[in-house]
Amino acid sequence: MTGTPEDPTQMPTAHRVALLSRDDRLFHLILAQQLDRELIQDLCRLAEMIRSVAEVRPGTQFLRTLLGHKRAMLYFIQPSTRTFLSFTAACQVLGMPYNDVRSQSTSSEVKGETEDDTIRVLSQYFDLIIMRHPEEGFAEQMAHMMNRMRRSIPLINGGSGKDQHPTQALLDIYTLYRSLGFGPNERPKPDFASNPFEGKTIAFVGDLKRGRTVRSLAYLLCRYPGVRMLFVSHPDLQIEEDILDYIEENNVDHELHNDLRAVISRCDAVYMTRLQDEYDTAGESKSIDYDSYRLSHEMAGDFKPNLVIMHPLPRRNEIDKRLDNDPRARYWDQVRNGMWMRAALIATIFNVDARIIDHYHSYYAH
Ligand code: NCD
Repeated sequence: MTGTPEDPTQMPTAHRVALLSRDDRLFHLILAQQLDRELIQDLCRLAEMIRSVAEVRPGTQFLRTLLGHKRAMLYFIQPSTRTFLSFTAACQVLGMPYNDVRSQSTSSEVKGETEDDTIRVLSQYFDLIIMRHPEEGFAEQMAHMMNRMRRSIPLINGGSGKDQHPTQALLDIYTLYRSLGFGPNERPKPDFASNPFEGKTIAFVGDLKRGRTVRSLAYLLCRYPGVRMLFVSHPDLQIEEDILDYIEENNVDHELHNDLRAVISRCDAVYMTRLQDEYDTAGESKSIDYDSYRLSHEMAGDFKPNLVIMHPLPRRNEIDKRLDNDPRARYWDQVRNGMWMRAALIATIFNVDARIIDHYHSYYAH
């Protein structure tokens, strides 16, 4: 399919984005570019409400009544712990039964069934497919295929090769809303209508060429005027032109660097990532000294007092373990925030967001 003129994944972004919505509402979530500022803020606000509602038993019980009549399929044929468990936890929060396929070796694909057919079959049993796949563009192609089917169900991209990871980007933005501008030990009450990124410097560090979490988050940050992005990497692993073009089109300040030590004192947030060597074709990243893209304990003297330290995890040694107990380390918070954000996303796709908002206001607002 790829490369033919009628292939929607090759169309200009605005067309691609339009094809993924239904009646102006989010239907499939495949690309971070689908998320405008208003939608990002609505999702963050809803995630925050779900989090409060779930604090008490009647709230938990209410949430579980919302999607008991729907079923989700997690088609995760690329390794995953967090994203997989985070989505299953989100389904459980909303009372949504789910099933999973985690390896092609246990599916009829070993009998020669194409992946397209597998997805078509799954769409007959389930009401939502959440997909992690090693190939860029595959989730998007499947979303377009869904659009042509009589029974068409939404598809969420839980990571598409080196390309995108939009739900991680959402949870990262949500984490930043809860962290930027707050002291590390404060209990945040974020204002999701504000722009906490104004005048803030966010550094992305590591394998930016193949790190899909960075790519998706860079798209979302372009929605926030006044942010500055620093891309800190070895020249062979720097962020790709397509992202830089998008950043430039959006007039966002950015800089390319290769020395973390030289910029760390300027950062309000630092987003560390691991080497994505599973995408090496001939061991090309073996010669790179990745230690230069490591946040060491010795650098802590240069940190701003309210630095936000992030990592999508899994971590190798990009962050010194001695920083784990520093209150500025937010990577464990990111994990939990992901569960609430994914619940917010699923609730929005199935149009039960208004019910959660009503419930929240009737119990919690004064
Ligand atoms: C990331 C991913 O899968 O892209 N992990 C995650 O979803 N939290 C990052 C990675 O694997 O390095």
